[in-house]
Amino acid sequence: MVMFKVSSVETTPFNDQKPGTSGLRKKVKVFKQPKYLENFVQSTFNALGAGKVRGATLVVSGDGRYYSKDAIQIIIKMAAANGVRRVWIGQNGLLSTPAVSAVIRERVGPDGSKANGAFILTASHNPGGPHEDFGIKYNTENGGPAPEGITDKIFENTKTIKEYLIAEGLPDVDISIIGVTSFMGPEGQFDIDVFDSASDYVKLMKSIFDFQSIQKLLTSPKFSFCYDALHGVAGAYAKRIFVEELGANESSLLNCVPKEDFGGGHPDPNLTYAKELVARMGLGKTNSEQEPPEFGAAADGDADRNMILGKRFFVTPSDSVAIIAANSVEAIPYFSGGLKGVARSMPTSAALDVVAKHLNLKFFEVPTGWKFFGNLMDAGRCSVCGEESFGTGSDHIREKDGIWAVLAWLSILAYKNKDNLGEEKLVTVEDIVRQHWATYGRHYYTRYDYENVDAGGAKELMAHLVMLQSSLDEVNKIIKGIHSDMSNVVNADEFEYKDPVDGSISKHQGIRYLFEDGSRLVFRLSGTGSEGATIRLYIEQYENDPAMTGRDSQEALAPLVEVALKLSKMQEFTGRSAPTVIT
Ligand code: G6P
Ligand code: ZN
Repeated sequence: MVMFKVSSVETTPFNDQKPGTSGLRKKVKVFKQPKYLENFVQSTFNALGAGKVRGATLVVSGDGRYYSKDAIQIIIKMAAANGVRRVWIGQNGLLSTPAVSAVIRERVGPDGSKANGAFILTASHNPGGPHEDFGIKYNTENGGPAPEGITDKIFENTKTIKEYLIAEGLPDVDISIIGVTSFMGPEGQFDIDVFDSASDYVKLMKSIFDFQSIQKLLTSPKFSFCYDALHGVAGAYAKRIFVEELGANESSLLNCVPKEDFGGGHPDPNLTYAKELVARMGLGKTNSEQEPPEFGAAADGDADRNMILGKRFFVTPSDSVAIIAANSVEAIPYFSGGLKGVARSMPTSAALDVVAKHLNLKFFEVPTGWKFFGNLMDAGRCSVCGEESFGTGSDHIREKDGIWAVLAWLSILAYKNKDNLGEEKLVTVEDIVRQHWATYGRHYYTRYDYENVDAGGAKELMAHLVMLQSSLDEVNKIIKGIHSDMSNVVNADEFEYKDPVDGSISKHQGIRYLFEDGSRLVFRLSGTGSEGATIRLYIEQYENDPAMTGRDSQEALAPLVEVALKLSKMQEFTGRSAPTVIT
């Protein structure tokens, strides 16, 4: 057995290693600075404490973006030096974020071991490549992102770090070959276990969904399907699940080969960035004569996000979670015993609230960020949850799950068409959504993103909006000056959340203007960008007159949008006359 030694390397702090909503994300050139990654990894080990590191089993993998392979070799050597007992690596360093969560919770190693945590190497939906983003985040034993208590400690450590530990004499490991390689260090044996990236996850999905009924739908000549992984890690799962397990045609997979730079694209599944899929589904401008498929979906780089589309039809993420919640007990075996509760993030539309009320379900509104759902799930209070930011999931793991969301939709379609795969007309995605609106009303919803604006200007805009909240009379006067028939703002605040499980309080989670008729304007600064600031503006309007639920959403929301832009002085503060992305 090859032996290694441990050496301590002197280092000095970097002052920019504060983890955001989902870990540390920076340009690759920042991560490539000597000792930059090492400092963050050692600060994480120190924050966890020797008790949780020595003898531990750690998962290290990610979405395969540029710099992952180098980072994995560095983390392996640091883990060994810090007394970690074994490191688990998905083949080629690939594991989707939901698969990491599943592996932590479900996988049993060849020697009977279970994982204690994971370094996930991803910058999620941000572009990859030598000039783009890299990222790293730590997930804990429950399979979810480290809580703020830990990430704050990590940040504190990065400001004072003086040394890190690394193994000397430990060779780079070939992570393309499945199997266990063992080494001997000063504290005993150290194993590197390279395993198949998909098996544990596939097994979990099979225990949740009725694969047979989904297969019947997918192989029916009446149905057609398309999945776009945007060259992210979802490709490693899509072929296994949709083609090999469920019988979809291989030609229904788009961009399903994971690439280090996501093929030069922006791996974010929305109407702007998932261009190819959007065109194939007959949305937007398309020259294709081909009839679009009945169902289309896309994932982001690390496969935790999803976008659901029907033929020439977009399902908003806020509607998606509401529809999944409304149908889950009938359509998904995992939920057949009923839902423990449902939850959404604050900026997500209130479509889910209406379902929860109708079905008498426990309901929670939490700040943006998946970790808040995790707490509720660990306490057995939440089964299904979702966010406007194309995240949907359940308590099967502690991350949102892009492929799970697709399987949930396919299950609903399979259920609605179960006696209907003969001559009758297919119940489509659009039918399901319109039926939902007819039952529960519709929440018109749109999000405007202003990406990479000057951080100072963004701060001033937010301060201006907080200042305005002190006089609602003034606010309503401004609004009436723009649209005299608009309903009044009756409440305005900054969202604050007290976690019902651990009692922790999160402040400044977004600025809200709540209107008498249920409409809402929400302003937030993104917590996931890597450069400048990104302002998000969320606009929502409720309509429960069935005659009025079929309008074009941008048209229905135009007056509210105008009010939001004028109220916030968006152009004045940002210099932007239009958003970067509208979803
Ligand atoms: C990540 C988190 C999500 C969150 C999103 C918000 O994807 O996992 O839970 O909704 O970031 O991003 P933002 O850029 O709006 O802060
Ligand atoms: Zn992601």
